Amino acid sequence: MPSKFLCSALLLCSSYTSWAVDPFTVELYESSCTICHGSGIGDAPKSFDVSVWSERLAKGNDVLLANIVRGINGMPPLGMCSDCTKQDFVDLIDYMSTEKP
Ligand code: HEC
Repeated sequence: MPSKFLCSALLLCSSYTSWAVDPFTVELYESSCTICHGSGIGDAPKSFDVSVWSERLAKGNDVLLANIVRGINGMPPLGMCSDCTKQDFVDLIDYMSTEKP
């Protein structure tokens, strides 16, 4: 993963593994995902609810990413974030599926 390499090259990894979320990820989350995932509308896995997310995470990131891009049931394609990159979605999944401090 080039981003992992960059991360270690810049010595930013410690802040990634501990709780330090990229403000950009939070911005994307607030502008696109929180509308549904914040309150769990229409069966959306609720953000920061680790137990709800654990069964989703069990599918693996590839499946989750594909479902984000295509949409699944009440989940709109790209989660209404047409500018998000794959890496953004990976970061968003990490963010939403982890307990908030
Ligand atoms: C319009 C409401 C809505 C928005 C906006 C939305 N989601 Fe969802 N999302 C859902 C719903 C509903 C589900 C549950 C779908 C299902 O499994 O039935 C879901 C499921 C998911 C899943 C799990 C998919 C799976 O395979 O289990 C992920 C990951 C996800 N959303 C990420 C995101 C991200 C990232 C964003 C913002 C970029 C976002 N969603 C925005 C409604 C939304």
